[in-house]
Amino acid sequence: MKVLITGGAGFLGQRLARKLIDKGTLRLQGGDWPIHQIDLLDVVAADTLGDARVRCLVGDIADPQVLRSAISRDTAVVFHLAAVVSGQAEADFDLGMRINFDASRALLETCRTLGHAPRVVFTSSVAVYGGALPATVRDDTALNPQSSYGTQKAMAELLLADYTRRGFVDGRVLRLPTISVRPGRPNAAASSFASGIVREPLHGEAATCPVAPDTRLWLLSPRRAVEALVAGCELDAAALADRRPINLPGVSVSAGAMVDALREVAGDAVASRVAWQPDERIERIVGSWPGCWDTGRAERLGLCGDEDFRAIVRAYITDDLTASTQ
Ligand SMILES: NC(=O)c1ccc[n+]([C@@H]2O[C@H](COP(=O)([O-])OP(=O)(O)OC[C@H]3O[C@@H](n4cnc5c(N)ncnc54)[C@H](O)[C@@H]3O)[C@@H](O)[C@H]2O)c1
Repeated sequence: MKVLITGGAGFLGQRLARKLIDKGTLRLQGGDWPIHQIDLLDVVAADTLGDARVRCLVGDIADPQVLRSAISRDTAVVFHLAAVVSGQAEADFDLGMRINFDASRALLETCRTLGHAPRVVFTSSVAVYGGALPATVRDDTALNPQSSYGTQKAMAELLLADYTRRGFVDGRVLRLPTISVRPGRPNAAASSFASGIVREPLHGEAATCPVAPDTRLWLLSPRRAVEALVAGCELDAAALADRRPINLPGVSVSAGAMVDALREVAGDAVASRVAWQPDERIERIVGSWPGCWDTGRAERLGLCGDEDFRAIVRAYITDDLTASTQ
């Protein structure tokens, strides 16, 4: 079986590829199918992770010809992760539309033309919600995005649902909480600080939190996010029926409580490296995302989040910090 990961050079794309290499099979339609090839499509060259099954495809996902050469009838699964992040999509409307929406439509069209109905796992976001929200958000809460990124994700979700209903693909939409702690440097995501206020202090550097301490975030560790991508792919279509989007379980935590958890795990000296400096633009975007969730459906489907934010900090120390300092 061949698997395609768009955005395969990215943060989650690389971790997902590593997970699939280690797992070796995917469970589809009641059988465990060996993965013979993993294609990583991205605008930048992906790391093939030292495994002969992994191929790196460099190209623009918005180019239909690139998609036609990346997807064939033996591509049984597509993990569609390529995207420009929230801050970038807000700053450059045309870029966000082209990559987050037009390319998603082109990808689905390519699958439709091939006619083999591959499984397509799409990474959506909590940014599809916004405005006046109920106290608790569920999978079926009305979508009301308050950013271009959220709107593009919502449109791609709807399209994937219709391509699924028509039998062109077998789609699954996983709405990811903000992933924390992301290793490396800050990025253009409005939520970049949700990793920075833990990562930088643990590396001995100062960090700035651009939102008020009581701002609530909905967070998931990279480890659990990748597990959920695989589990979401393997879910039986019958279990999803006509409702393809799933809000993944996360930890609802305020920015202040995140720093308290960092203090508990790593000590006062580390937590005191965080300074509070509100940024109105980031507060507006992040403040429009809901903080309180009912993810009972995901849990019943076997998708799990982290225990609490301390567990997320500890997972970063084990999975990334220790490796980066060895
Ligand atoms: N990380 C999070 O907190 C988070 C939260 C919610 C949803 N998501 C979604 O999960 C997915 C993966 O996120 P990530 O954190 O790995 O992001 P990332 O930015 O690390 O990876 C995205 C990848 O897409 C690639 N890409 C961008 N434009 C492209 C193009 N034109 N053609 C081909 N590739 C292109 C980038 O080069 C990058 O490697 C995205 O769809 C994102 O919207 C992420």
